[in-house]
Formats: sequence, structure tokens, C-alpha cells
Amino acid sequence: MPAQPARVVVLVSGGGTNLQALLDASVAPAYGAQVVAVGADRDGIEALRRAEGAGVPTFVRRVTDFADRRAWDAELAATVAGHRPDVVVLAGFMKLVGEHFLAELGGRVVNTHPALSPSFPGMRAPAEALEHGVKITGCTLFVVDAGVDTGPIVAQRAVAVEPDDSVESLHERIKEAEREMLVDAVGRMAREGFSVVGREVRFGPTSVHP
Ligand code: GRF
Repeated sequence: MPAQPARVVVLVSGGGTNLQALLDASVAPAYGAQVVAVGADRDGIEALRRAEGAGVPTFVRRVTDFADRRAWDAELAATVAGHRPDVVVLAGFMKLVGEHFLAELGGRVVNTHPALSPSFPGMRAPAEALEHGVKITGCTLFVVDAGVDTGPIVAQRAVAVEPDDSVESLHERIKEAEREMLVDAVGRMAREGFSVVGREVRFGPTSVHP
């Protein structure tokens, strides 16, 4: 295991239960990762309060404070990069990162999505799973690329749809699986390293990849 914990920056937009799971896990030195900063695209959200409660520095970059989306993306990329992250986690971050962000940090950015990719990309995944009548859905952690929820898959967990599920009850059960998946996968990325070749993501030192 590396001598220093991996530096993790988390971006959020809402309640921050995934962030909280990472904050809780990283209290144990053996976890191997430390949340060094939390960023958001809006003020006044529970996720920022959770970060502050844990004594982690926060920053907010709102799209509306910039001339355009590209300028916002460039500033977000510079701010995140300034924290020297080994891994960036988009945990319920409701914005697509852009060209600057991926040029600066690409390959180290993962996003958690509440569906089994490649099914149901986008913002309405639990609702679309219910509307489609699937019996199994779940969650996916993937390495962010330029598409919408299209990147190489790091981890997935399956969740059964129950006959009387609402969007809310289904999403809550998915989020339980999501938190476990995230804590497990980010810990492994931190402790073991990881590599991406084509669409395949492997844990372990890069040198063992053929
Ligand atoms: C998660 O299900 C995430 O995948 C989705 O929004 C939810 C965020 O939950 N995009 P939280 O803010 O971590 O509680």
C-alpha cells in the first residue's frame, strides 16, 4: 500500500450521501484514501454541510457566475487540479464536465450512476428503469469520458426492482448499493492503483497490464 493516502476530490450537487460514505471510510488509515476537498456547482446543499462537518475544505463554482460553460469548465478544472488529486469522484454531481476538465484530469475522474450501464444513461435513470419494467437495475462506477454515462466501467452492483417500487423507493435502494460500491472501488483504486485500456478497467499496478 502507498505510504501516503491517495488524494481524493469529490464533486457534488445534492444530499451527499455518497460523499458521506467516502468521508466515513477515509477515517480509517487502512482505507488508503483521504478526501482533500469537496466542490459543488451550487450553494446551500447538504453535501457541502457534510464536508464542512468533516473539516474538509469546500469550493463552489456556479455556471451562472461565468461568461459561458467553457469558462466555468476551465475554472473548475484548475480548482480541482490545484488540490493535486489522485482520483476525482463525481458523486451526484449534476453537470457534465467539459473539454478542459478532461484534458487536465481525464483518466482519474470517476462518476457514479444509478443504473446498470449501458442501460438508462442521463438524469432520469431510476424512473426510466421503472417505466421500462426491468426486474433488475443497479448502479455503475465508470471512468468519465466525453459522453453521457458512457465511460469504461470500474464497478457495478445489481439491485432488484420490487413490484410496488416508486421512483423514490427504488432510487433509495440503489443508493445503498451505490455507497457500498463507491467505497469499495475508490479504496481499491487508492490502495492498488488502476489502469484503463480501451474499455477495460483493472485494479493493480499499471505495469502488469498486457
Ligand atoms: C446518486 O444516486 C447519484 O448516482 C445520482 O444522484 C444521487 C446522488 O445522491 N446522480 P447523493 O447526493 O450522494 O446522496
